[in-house]
Amino acid sequence: MDRAAMVEKLNEILKWEYAGLIQYTQYSFLVRGTWREVYYKLFRDSGEEALEHAHKVGDKIAALGGVTTVERGEVKVTTDLNEMLRNSLEMERRHVELYTQAVAMCEDRDVGLRNLLEDICQMEQDGADHLSKILDEGDLSVGSSARPQQRTG
Ligand SMILES: [Fe+2]
Repeated sequence: MDRAAMVEKLNEILKWEYAGLIQYTQYSFLVRGTWREVYYKLFRDSGEEALEHAHKVGDKIAALGGVTTVERGEVKVTTDLNEMLRNSLEMERRHVELYTQAVAMCEDRDVGLRNLLEDICQMEQDGADHLSKILDEGDLSVGSSARPQQRTG
């Protein structure tokens, strides 16, 4: 494994986990109306999950001899619930993509690191799938907005 390249990739991930932490927590503060009862907890929990992932990735960066970034990716601010959900799906898909790239950089011997990255990647994929269902998208695959055949009846 190219250690410097992996540290760089993990720092890119950390930057976007920080973005997830801020964006989800912001949505948990701002979501209003009847649906607040449903979505407040989803957003608050997702923010906490992003922080847990940031901790794991940050600890690994330091273990590899790197210095953790203090930057964060772009946060999209909105008070519209549908936009919140679409932005959340976009965030989860970005995370899936980044972890997938990091997994691909692992060599056979990097078992512990690959295992860590794959575990988190699965959580990101589960999050993306869940949001995709909430938004009633048909195709759950990464980056695709194609819909399957319309339901009948
Ligand atoms: Fe995450």
